[in-house]
Amino acid sequence: DEKTGRRVFDLRMQSGETEFRPGQKTPTWGFDGSYLGPTLRAKRGEKVEVRIRNGLDEASTVHWHGMHLPARMDGGPHQMVAPGKNWAPHWTVDQPAATLWYHPHPHGETEQHVRRGLAGMFLVDDDRSERLALPKRYGVDDLPVIVQDVRFDGAELDSGHKMMQDVGFLGDRTMVNGTLDPYKIVHDERVRLRLLNASTARTYDFGFTDGQKFALVGTDGGLLDRPATMDRIQLSPGERAEVVVRMKPGERSVLRSYPQDNYGSSWHRRFSGGDDTFDVLQLRAADRLRPSPAVPSRLGELELPAPGNAVRARHFDLKISGINGRKMAMGRVDETVTRGTTEVWTVRNGNGMPHNFHIHDVQFRVVSVNGERPPAQLRGRKDTVFIPSGTTMKLALRFDGGPEFADPRTPYMFHCHLLSHEDQGMMGQFVVV
Ligand code: C2O
Ligand code: CU
Ligand code: CU
Repeated sequence: DEKTGRRVFDLRMQSGETEFRPGQKTPTWGFDGSYLGPTLRAKRGEKVEVRIRNGLDEASTVHWHGMHLPARMDGGPHQMVAPGKNWAPHWTVDQPAATLWYHPHPHGETEQHVRRGLAGMFLVDDDRSERLALPKRYGVDDLPVIVQDVRFDGAELDSGHKMMQDVGFLGDRTMVNGTLDPYKIVHDERVRLRLLNASTARTYDFGFTDGQKFALVGTDGGLLDRPATMDRIQLSPGERAEVVVRMKPGERSVLRSYPQDNYGSSWHRRFSGGDDTFDVLQLRAADRLRPSPAVPSRLGELELPAPGNAVRARHFDLKISGINGRKMAMGRVDETVTRGTTEVWTVRNGNGMPHNFHIHDVQFRVVSVNGERPPAQLRGRKDTVFIPSGTTMKLALRFDGGPEFADPRTPYMFHCHLLSHEDQGMMGQFVVV
């Protein structure tokens, strides 16, 4: 936009029909289409404005998951958009290159709105990410991989009531970018997968069926300082990871989700998805591959808060009945933090059920997991983290930003990102003053 200097995006929330299976039209929701939404992309330092129109016949919101932005632009449950109405949040992108995403956040309805199809990616670039020798041709060797589980009830998406487990809705098959049985033909020696777990309840533990290792180059909020060689990456709902995979000419690599032994009691493993296996995505390498540069051994500086600077400690006890024994209440602010300060939050899951923890506005450092140094996949910038049963994590967070970030009247959320838990009240509110 010439007057405001903003990069403007238009997003329309709408209902439609999607043909996931030949000849079967399934009623779904999407942004600018019938299912999911376009990938938005902006560079650090840019001003952006998203013009949202709610073309649904229900009120909803659009939340910028992982984005550092003033609370009234956040798209949480306090920024409802009525049917037929518009909302145009704007902010300056001020954070490192990362794979972020957007989705609705209406209180008590988030699970349903996301599962009907409202979700999309928001990629942030910066000078460093544009220079680094990582695969970066979008859709060619830099692939968005939005993973969701679904279940069909005839032509319809299962409304969920039949298959609600205590973790929430679990589907019986997975999709990538809204496609069943997905595959991608690859023409490059290395591909970067931007993995997003956009499922409402299911946690995945991704690896390749031939056991091949991959390079983890980024977590929720940005690139790591150096790549980590892994053969598995566990992602709970809302988490992202960027991995670089090496292809072999003419061969197929299958990304699979494996059973997870940190998923809680054996009952939960068995009945809440922890023992399940899914083939998620097939990469088919062409017979001749274009050479790709090796993954750089240094990716850059991690911008992470220092726990030594913390001025305040807080504790959060996770239970499905509420965080710290309280159910979410729209009119109650649970925590008040001071702009420009660092805090350490201790989050504990003392019950047998898997949970995770997501904090709006910030990217945090995982300081420790049950007192130990976190594993490689938790050493980067994070906004959502899986907290297995019996686990205590210490997180360091910093509430940065200019004066527009101080807003005693508009809260940000922290919550379990198993969306039915969130909807049942496993969420709290904080304000930055
Ligand atoms: Cu991805 Cu509060 O949400
Ligand atoms: Cu969020
Ligand atoms: Cu939970």
